Amino acid sequence: MKKEFSIRTFCTEEDFDLAAAQYIVCRMKANAHSVIGLSTGRTTYNIHRQIVRLYKEAPFYIGGITFFGVDEVVGVDKTYSGSCYTMLRHELLDDLGVLPEQFLILPTHSTDYSTECRSFVQEIERRGGVDLLMLGLGENGHLGFNQPGTEFAQGAWVANMDSALEQRIRRETSSPDEVWLGGATLGLKDIMQARKVVLVAKGRHKADAVRRMLQGPVTTDCPASILQSHPCCEFLFYDCL
Ligand code: GLP
Repeated sequence: MKKEFSIRTFCTEEDFDLAAAQYIVCRMKANAHSVIGLSTGRTTYNIHRQIVRLYKEAPFYIGGITFFGVDEVVGVDKTYSGSCYTMLRHELLDDLGVLPEQFLILPTHSTDYSTECRSFVQEIERRGGVDLLMLGLGENGHLGFNQPGTEFAQGAWVANMDSALEQRIRRETSSPDEVWLGGATLGLKDIMQARKVVLVAKGRHKADAVRRMLQGPVTTDCPASILQSHPCCEFLFYDCL
């Protein structure tokens, strides 16, 4: 028998952003040492700004919280405006006054990505493991940079990027073809170990991915379908059902 999901749909984008922001703020308040995973992209930008607004309205102690980025672009400068590091800093963490030691992110450059990926996950575990992970959804059903075809047992790694995103990043960073661009990301195995996952998706262009994620078979053709087997996952949607 299929598990029932907790699905919340919203009538306005503002309600969606605010509800998603509240998951993060509530977790931060409930556990002063929580470990919270964040995603970047068009869906999460306004959510991050709402978190900042809620926090500034009623500040509280957040010095013990760890934030981490679920993925990162590899082969670009960390200061590139599209790196997850820069986006999370600008959209959210700088405004919250989050210190460097409270923010974990995979590297944009390394000579040994497998060691970096392993240490990243170990450090998250050392701090207590993932309390809450907010994930976006790719139009092809990807999670983080785990594209269709990624094994469910995959741990943190550097994946190939889908070509449209790669071309865009190449243009924006003037990276020549010989520079390899990839996506460092938590693997699907790590994602499944988060104690709670909140998946956020908005827009009609995500409708097909949402349908495959929730109603299709659990298959590596749609990485997000693995969330059907997560014990504690909520789905928040605006305009994509
Ligand atoms: C990107 C990121 C993901 C993100 C997703 C959704 O490829 N690697 O972490 O969640 O796509 O992005 P958007 O909200 O812009 O559609």
